[in-house]
Amino acid sequence: MSRGIFITVEGIDGSGKTTQALKIKKLFETKGRKVTFTKEPGGTKLGAKIREILLYEDMNPVSEFLLFASDRKEHIQSLILPSIESGRVVISDRFHDSSVAYQGFGRGVSLEFIEYVHDKVLGGILPDLTFIFDLPPSKGLERLHSRDRIERAGLEFLTRVRNGYLSIAKTSDRFIVIDAGRDKESVWKDVEEEILKRGLIV
Ligand code: TYD
Repeated sequence: MSRGIFITVEGIDGSGKTTQALKIKKLFETKGRKVTFTKEPGGTKLGAKIREILLYEDMNPVSEFLLFASDRKEHIQSLILPSIESGRVVISDRFHDSSVAYQGFGRGVSLEFIEYVHDKVLGGILPDLTFIFDLPPSKGLERLHSRDRIERAGLEFLTRVRNGYLSIAKTSDRFIVIDAGRDKESVWKDVEEEILKRGLIV
């Protein structure tokens, strides 16, 4: 059986990460791998309900983080872990680094608290590889039509989120920062090269 692989894509809203994640999915599938493509928030049935609350209700940042964490726990238990254990490639459009960047750096929830909760929630599951699609927030906002309240939070907020991503990127070599301010093909070339370089495709 092939080894399970867990890849996450991160970045501010409008960074184009979903397009690139779908290309990663295709790459692995053309190499004969079974892929589970998923997202946060809302990767499970319960998660879809949590997502509705998160995107449209105003709330305290700590409550917000804990709801994202609930969504995440369900996601890990019912989809991510079983998929990795059965040797699949799991690609998640956002995972725990989103909470560090958005609720931690963006909204000021204590990073120690987030780390403590994640320690319980993740149960040792960490991505093998995390792509951070980096983009100036003004560019990201241009590409968006402000679909929900988190995306409407604005330039200053997204600047803190972006800087949060760039700062956590320095903490582990599972992170790869990609300049997402270019055309899709140039971005993809870098993404594909990193996947090949890391020996994830055999
Ligand atoms: P979504 O519509 O999935 O946006 P995107 O296409 O940008 O991924 O909405 C997810 C929103 O939730 C997005 O603005 C980022 C935010 N979010 C957090 O604030 N914390 C988290 O832990 C996660 C997973 C997402």
